[in-house]
Amino acid sequence: MSGSPPPDSGLGPEAIEFLNLAMHELRSPLVTIRGYVEMIAQGRLGAITPAQKSRLRVVWRNSLAMDDMIDTMMEYARIEQDRFVLSRDAVAIAPLTRRATTLLAELADRAGVEFVEDIQVSDHVLVDADADRVRRVIRALVDNAIKFTSDGRIEVRVQERESDVLVSVTDTGCGVTEADLPRIYEPFFKGTDSEGATRKGTGLGLTVASHVIEAHGSELACDRRDPGCRFSFALPLD
Ligand SMILES: Nc1ncnc2c1ncn2[C@@H]1O[C@H](COP(=O)(O)OP(=O)(O)OP(=O)(O)O)[C@@H](O)[C@H]1O
Ligand SMILES: [Mg+2]
Repeated sequence: MSGSPPPDSGLGPEAIEFLNLAMHELRSPLVTIRGYVEMIAQGRLGAITPAQKSRLRVVWRNSLAMDDMIDTMMEYARIEQDRFVLSRDAVAIAPLTRRATTLLAELADRAGVEFVEDIQVSDHVLVDADADRVRRVIRALVDNAIKFTSDGRIEVRVQERESDVLVSVTDTGCGVTEADLPRIYEPFFKGTDSEGATRKGTGLGLTVASHVIEAHGSELACDRRDPGCRFSFALPLD
């Protein structure tokens, strides 16, 4: 299943193709940079000091953020060009969730936000899903939760239900206004902060995430809370 097309972004086919090519061009040097950072961090080019190692971790985290951005835009181009195809398999959802959030948990910590993982399923529970895509959806949701929470708590929960597994990311941040709620999945949509300034980001994270979840035959839900919000989706048990 490929999911329904996103609402019209207003970008023509040439612009989408340019986006696709530009992201391909950006990805290659990034792969090289990440390869060398990993090699240096592992000490394979000589011993490094703890201070150097901790800075390399920052470089690594930032390169991962760039990789996420590039991937989101490439996915968006795939969706717009009708090339988006899921690759489903039996996936252990608990380890996948932990892998998705490792470095983001550090970011939350640095931002002074409590990060809690409440994984209520064993490592043997399998869902029928596209592992790489679901991992990126979880990353996109946690990334948003960190971005929009200045203090308080972020919780990632994985629960088994009768025939599916529910994954949710809850935060105590600024939340989504009632007016913004119907628009957050639109391409390039970004809310405004309390001073009326447009928020940072490309506004594609949730567009792609909701498409991925819909392609799994499910729905990415957003529930407003006081304070904050909760994003959740279900995946069928394998
Ligand atoms: N956890 C959240 N709390 C409050 N608002 C949110 C949250 N997640 C998303 N939003 C709102 O939805 C908008 C769209 O989010 P989306 O992830 O699609 O884009 P982005 O984060 O701005 O950019 P990108 O993810 O591409 O870097 C945000 O600008 C924000 O207004
Ligand atoms: Mg985002």
